[in-house]
Amino acid sequence: MLVSSFLLLSLTTLAQGFTLRTWDEAYALASTIVANLTLPEKASILSGVGQFDSRCVGNTTPIPRLGIPAICFQDGPAGVRLVKNVTGFPSGINAASTFSRRLMQARGQAMAEEFKAKGVHVFLGPAMDIMRNPKAGRGWESFGPDPYLNGEAAYSTIIGVQSVGVQACAKHLVANNQEHWRYGLSAIVDDRTMQELYFYPFIRAIEAGVTSIMCAYNQLNGTSSCHNAGLLGPNGLVRKAGFRGYVVSDWGATHDSVADNANAGLDMEQPGNNIVIGGGVFGVGGTNLAKSNSGVSTARIDEMATRVLAGYYRLGQDDPSYPAVSFDAQHSDGSGSLNLHVDVRSAAHTALVREIADASAVLLKNNRTSTATSGGGGSGNGSDGGSGTTIRGLPLAKERIKTMAVVGQDALLPNMSCNDLNECNDGTMSIGWGSGSNSLQYIVPPITAIQNFVGTGATIATSLSNDLSAGPAAAKGKDVAIVFVNAMSGELGGYDTVVGNMGDRNDLALWWKGGSLVEAVAAVCSNTIAVIHSVGPVSVSWSQHPNVTGIVYAGAPGEQTGPSIVDVLYGAVNPSGRLPFSIDESEASYGTSIVYNSLGFPVVNYTEQLLIDYRYMDAKGITPHYPFGFGLSYSTFAYSNLKISTSGSGATSSVVVTFTVRNSGAVAGTEIPQMYLAFPASAGEPKRVLRGFDEVKLGVGASAGVTMNLNAREISTWDVKSQSWIRPAGTFTVTVGASINDVRLTGTF
Ligand SMILES: *[C@@H]1O[C@H](CO)[C@@H](O)[C@H](O)[C@H]1NC(C)=O
Ligand SMILES: *[C@@H]1O[C@H](CO)[C@@H](O)[C@H](O)[C@H]1NC(C)=O
Ligand SMILES: *[C@@H]1O[C@H](CO)[C@@H](O)[C@H](O)[C@H]1NC(C)=O
Ligand SMILES: *[C@@H]1O[C@H](CO)[C@@H](O)[C@H](O)[C@H]1NC(C)=O
Ligand SMILES: *[C@@H]1O[C@H](CO)[C@@H](O)[C@H](O)[C@H]1NC(C)=O
Ligand SMILES: *[C@@H]1O[C@H](CO)[C@@H](O)[C@H](O)[C@H]1NC(C)=O
Ligand SMILES: *[C@@H]1O[C@H](CO)[C@@H](O)[C@H](O)[C@H]1NC(C)=O
Ligand SMILES: *[C@@H]1O[C@H](CO)[C@@H](O)[C@H](O)[C@H]1NC(C)=O
Repeated sequence: MLVSSFLLLSLTTLAQGFTLRTWDEAYALASTIVANLTLPEKASILSGVGQFDSRCVGNTTPIPRLGIPAICFQDGPAGVRLVKNVTGFPSGINAASTFSRRLMQARGQAMAEEFKAKGVHVFLGPAMDIMRNPKAGRGWESFGPDPYLNGEAAYSTIIGVQSVGVQACAKHLVANNQEHWRYGLSAIVDDRTMQELYFYPFIRAIEAGVTSIMCAYNQLNGTSSCHNAGLLGPNGLVRKAGFRGYVVSDWGATHDSVADNANAGLDMEQPGNNIVIGGGVFGVGGTNLAKSNSGVSTARIDEMATRVLAGYYRLGQDDPSYPAVSFDAQHSDGSGSLNLHVDVRSAAHTALVREIADASAVLLKNNRTSTATSGGGGSGNGSDGGSGTTIRGLPLAKERIKTMAVVGQDALLPNMSCNDLNECNDGTMSIGWGSGSNSLQYIVPPITAIQNFVGTGATIATSLSNDLSAGPAAAKGKDVAIVFVNAMSGELGGYDTVVGNMGDRNDLALWWKGGSLVEAVAAVCSNTIAVIHSVGPVSVSWSQHPNVTGIVYAGAPGEQTGPSIVDVLYGAVNPSGRLPFSIDESEASYGTSIVYNSLGFPVVNYTEQLLIDYRYMDAKGITPHYPFGFGLSYSTFAYSNLKISTSGSGATSSVVVTFTVRNSGAVAGTEIPQMYLAFPASAGEPKRVLRGFDEVKLGVGASAGVTMNLNAREISTWDVKSQSWIRPAGTFTVTVGASINDVRLTGTF
């Protein structure tokens, strides 16, 4: 089960039920068709036909005489949105928390199976925006602040999505890192920071063969992303990186003239008309583009149309068996002409959602102690302990616990009739709000899952609000109290203020006084377990409280949230999730801020350059509460036998790192070894950067060899002068361990 850190899977070998074509084959087919299209026909596939009157969230005009359907674009990155009978998948940030390429790819594939079965051509994901600031509203849709983890997750997701013949859309290009002012703020990002941090996941998306990229609402360097030739033009970032697909605008992210956008490199505008502050540049159905005075050459229009059709042909979407669109997301109230709600769920998808939720739960604290009050020992897993033994911490010993309390509104079923952006926070938080949210048709909340699991084996006192008196009253004197707390964020729209937060979170505090609730319960119950459902880092000032014997950071895990937390709390699953960001008390530890107040669209200077999250903490000597990559297990793992070999030079350099991991504890489990690299000082890199991870499943006493490969780019920095990746001279230090700060092996090359 040793997966190399950049195993290049051939798409063809994964292709299911369709013929994957090469880009050249796809281009040949697309060119033939484009040669037969009239100018208005070409233009009609380069712009949407208008939001709120068509089926998918984005649509092109069909060309029946050539058998080309309306291309259907649909949200979102965690499952099909705005329709019924679909699965609510875990968020992107939870996929990142698994540190498992296997699960990231399986998630992409399963989601795409549902998009395809509904007739969607383009999955509007994955999101791969770097979590520049921990409060960023849409951070949870992507894979966190580290470019390598974000890039590997984007790569694996796209391989999974496109393996079933659905196009992926890498978004949002670029520096789309806060919700406040996003429709026009200008991010100022220098070239090296762009290549090594914000653009890096897009490089991996292009390597995965992604068919489309979405340009963002915000400006970069003072120019709107969708008419920014530095990003999209022939010499811009995406084409220089080898991208052969098409660039589509975020919904309404176009400004100025048709020529400004098309000539800068934008290939398609969606949704075709004005939705927010821009949009409608190409005209609904491309009418402006088709005008003789558009200022866009025929050759450029041909190039645009060819790129769009190449994506469609590359993934075999011309196959007559490709399902037709069977829903009307624009009339999800049922007033539309099509509302079949084909059931695309499956037992396999439900099981996968639970497996990812299980594998993304991060055990932050576990003070497992046992006190023999009359006979019996108390070492080992949750099933042990003689009669009368009091066991604190995790996993919970089902047969030992006779009285328990479940506290907090986050354990409850949320309002399932919340608006279609999921802008409520009145129960358990399983996903953030906005266009990246799930259609929450079905969810198993923690309280239901716990009650089902416990049955009549224990009495359960509940206080399913965040009332600071009722919670402790329920918890007092119980064998265990489980406190559920949360924090949420989402996308900025026209009116989306949720509990006073406008997209980006206002602060890092748990919502509804969650921190005070944990403290109030811990004051009266010496075995208090906190479960955090959050979209990103939160303040946990109470984490060292001696009565808080366990903390599980479960993120935003999707519809199987209840069953998965039972799996982890009771030890059916040994936790292996790892933090895809650092957790510290205050925003000041993270090196960036969000611009909330401004007189008009602000200029946001990325002066911190490469130093965000753990890279900033390393530079400033800050030790966070819980470091990047951290997560405990019910077992222990030993590392040995580090070997490093190098070969090649310059652009062909590569490094192979091998070591052994052994399960030295008493329970089977999965270890997530991580490799960090310290560049030679002259390189000017952050002190340490993530460059490898793997999942290693091991029975008690078992060991396995792990191999991690570094390619030339992964041991290089971006050289602005030569516009290329160059390996700096000098000695690199490799550290391998269980988190960035839990170093077990060190070597150099
Ligand atoms: C496209 O045009 C070529 C040349 O005029 C013709 O041979 C071919 O049949 C046309 N194909 C379609 C699909 O119309
Ligand atoms: C943005 O401007 C910076 C200089 O401030 C430059 O280094 C960088 O290359 C520019 N990026 C793009 C994509 O034009
Ligand atoms: C969902 O699919 C089931 C079949 O599994 C069907 O009976 C039901 O009507 C569908 N739901 C809706 C809202 O159409
Ligand atoms: C764990 O709990 C025991 C018993 O209350 C206490 O003595 C010990 O200090 C705790 N350890 C940690 C690391 O909190
Ligand atoms: C659920 O949310 C909807 C939409 O916001 C609202 O109209 C309804 O009153 C809510 N239901 C409950 C029980 O709060
Ligand atoms: C821990 O809980 C016990 C009740 O079991 C309580 O007496 C004690 O004061 C609590 N400790 C703290 C530090 O709150
Ligand atoms: C970014 O830098 C520009 C130019 O120095 C300055 O005008 C602007 O206020 C800065 N933006 C912020 C948010 O500090
Ligand atoms: C815990 O230990 C018992 C007894 O050795 C064993 O039967 C059980 O499978 C173990 N549980 C886990 C989760 O390993």
